[in-house]
Amino acid sequence: MSSGQLQIAVFCSGNGSNLEALLRAEKKGTLKARIAIVVSDNPECYALERARLHRKQVLLFIPKHYNSRQAYEEMIVRNLKEKKIGLIVLAGFMRILTPYFVRAFKGRMLNIHPSMLPAFKGAHAIRDAFEAGAAATGATVHFVTDDLDAGPVILQKAVKRLKSDKLDDLEKRIHAVEHQIYPKAVRLYAEGKVIARRA
Ligand code: GRF
Repeated sequence: MSSGQLQIAVFCSGNGSNLEALLRAEKKGTLKARIAIVVSDNPECYALERARLHRKQVLLFIPKHYNSRQAYEEMIVRNLKEKKIGLIVLAGFMRILTPYFVRAFKGRMLNIHPSMLPAFKGAHAIRDAFEAGAAATGATVHFVTDDLDAGPVILQKAVKRLKSDKLDDLEKRIHAVEHQIYPKAVRLYAEGKVIARRA
């Protein structure tokens, strides 16, 4: 394969706009890592189209083809280890990974979440912040641990809520911030400037 460069796997289930931001950063040479594969659980997702347009290898793991969650995750881990993946980047992957999987990539798995963690954890963070009338929310890149949306934070950026904002407007500005901070966080990791806190 390559050159000593960090090999990463980006996991997606949906639109893949964060994948796109990472792919563009890789192309520009600012990611300092190589996106070796794109992993998905959803054959219909637009992220896969983006991966194909950038000529990236795609691995599709369809949960219903496996007898158990354990078998599913073991297959993914085996594949990633064979491909010498050094970092997993979760980018809208809609499955919660078990402690087995998290252990297999301990300190080597990142996630992006659309809030200023620890505020607004969970699957509807933007809507929850909007409905709570929060004056500001944002986006966070963090290491993945067993506790959902609670691993050590690498980068965060706040997004102010404007008076005129509809949910959609706030969503767009948060996504734009995600697309800035995720490639930066991956680069920090690739350059050895950030490591997971030891337990
Ligand atoms: C992002 O808002 C991210 O924070 C969350 O899932 C969304 C994925 O969006 N984890 P996309 O598929 O990257 O466009």
